[in-house]
Amino acid sequence: MTQNRESVNVMLVGGGGREHALAWKLRQSPRLGNLFVTNPENPGLAALGRPVDAPIDIRAPFQIQRFCDKNRIGLVVIGPEEPLAAGLADVLAAPGRAVFGPTAAGARLEADKAWAKQLMRAASVPMADGRTFTDPAAAKMYIETREDPPVVKASGLAKGKGVIVPQTMAEALDAIDRIMIKREFGDAGRSVVVEERLEGHEASVLALVDGRTIYVLEACQDHKRLGDNDTGPNTGGMGVYCPGGITDDATIAQVQAEVLVPTLDALRCDGVDFRGVLYAGLMITPGGPKVLEFNTRFGDPECQALMARFDADLLEVLLATATRRLDEVEINWKPAASCCVVIASEGYPVNPRTGVPIEGIDAAAAVPGVQVFHAGTKRDATGAIVTAGGRVLNVVGAGDSLAEARALAYRAADLIRFTGKVMRRDIGARAPALAGQ
Ligand code: AMP
Ligand code: GLY
Repeated sequence: MTQNRESVNVMLVGGGGREHALAWKLRQSPRLGNLFVTNPENPGLAALGRPVDAPIDIRAPFQIQRFCDKNRIGLVVIGPEEPLAAGLADVLAAPGRAVFGPTAAGARLEADKAWAKQLMRAASVPMADGRTFTDPAAAKMYIETREDPPVVKASGLAKGKGVIVPQTMAEALDAIDRIMIKREFGDAGRSVVVEERLEGHEASVLALVDGRTIYVLEACQDHKRLGDNDTGPNTGGMGVYCPGGITDDATIAQVQAEVLVPTLDALRCDGVDFRGVLYAGLMITPGGPKVLEFNTRFGDPECQALMARFDADLLEVLLATATRRLDEVEINWKPAASCCVVIASEGYPVNPRTGVPIEGIDAAAAVPGVQVFHAGTKRDATGAIVTAGGRVLNVVGAGDSLAEARALAYRAADLIRFTGKVMRRDIGARAPALAGQ
C-alpha cells in the first residue's frame, strides 16, 4: 500500500535511557520523517531528535496539540508512566495522529496499585495475596496478625522505589510510618498495599497490545536492588539481561493465558481499549508465575536490553500497535542475548549526586557490540557531560551468548569514569545459562 510507505513524523515523550533506546531504534526506520523529542537536555536524545518547543503539560493541552498539528506528527510515543497516568494519550489522539501508550484509564493499572489488585482479584489473576489500607493504624494491626513480615508498597507512582521488603516485623511496621506518615514517597503513600512476600525469581514480561492482538516480547530479568547479591534499597532497576526470568515457551504461554488475557479482558469490560505496552512484573514461584505489579509502558532498563535485540522496524511496529494492526507486522529477535548495566550516581535512589563530570563515554560506545544510552546526564555550561540524575548511563552489550553480552557490557562500563560512580557487578550472573561457568 503506497499510503503505508509515507514518512511519519514522530514525537517521543520522555527523557531517560528508555527513550534514548527508543529514539536510537526509531532512527533506523526508513519511514521516519522528523523525530521530535520532549527532553533535549538529555544529550543522547538531543543528538537524535529536534526539540519540541511546547510544554508537555496536560493542563495546557492546546499548546501541545497545536505543536503536533503544526508539525504533522503522525505518531506520538509516550515513554514514562507519569504523562500516561495524567492522560496525555487521551489528549493527543486525533484523526491522523496515532498514540502509542494507553489512556489514563489504562495507565491506572500501574498508577494505582490498590485498584490494580482489585482488578486482578476479580479476574482471578495469580498474584501476591494482600490488602489495601488508607489508615496506618489498621495497616499495622493487619501486619501484626501475619506470621512473616509482609511487603509494604505505596499505592501510587513512586518511580519503582515505593516498595519496602522488610526483614523483620519491626521494619514492616516502620514501613507504614515511612510511607503513610513521613510520606517518603509523597502522595503515592496516601494508601498502601500490604502483601505476602513471595519467594522465587523475578521476570519482566512485556507485551505489545493493540486492543485486539497481544505480542509477547522476549522476557527479561531486572535487578531491582541497589547492591550486588540483591542487597540494599529497591531502585527503578540496576540492570537487565534478555532473554531472562522465563525462557521456556510453556511458561510464557501460561503468563499470556493466566495473566495478560484476563487482565486485558477485565480492562475491556471497564471500557478500556488498551494500546501500548502491558508489562507484568512477575515472581516465578514453585506454584507458578504470580504478579508483583503491572506497568503500562516499556520497562526501564528492560527497554534498553530489548531494543538491542529487536529485529524489526520499530516505527512500523509502534504505529501498528497504536492503530490496531499489530497482526500485520513481523517481529524477529537477534540472537542470542543482551545485558544492560546501569551506571548510577552516589546517593541514588535517595539523593543522587549531580553535576559531576563523566569521562570515557565515547570509548565505551566504541566497543563493538555495545550501545551506551544516556539516562540522567546533561551538558554543563562548557559543553561537558555531567551527571544529572540517579541512573546516569545504561551500557548494553549484545552477543552470541549471555556470557559474551555480559563481558561486553562490563568491558565498556568499566571505561566510564566519574566520582561517585555506582554499578552492580552481578547483572545476569545468576542466570541459568551461566551456571557452571
Ligand atoms: P514492584 O514495584 O511492586 O514490582 O516491587 C518492586 C520489587 O520489590 C519487585 O521487583 C520485587 O523485587 C520486590 N517485591 C515486590 N513485591 C514483592 C512480594 N510480594 N514478594 C517479594 N518481593 C516483592
Ligand atoms: N525496571 C522496572 C521498571 O521499569 O519499572
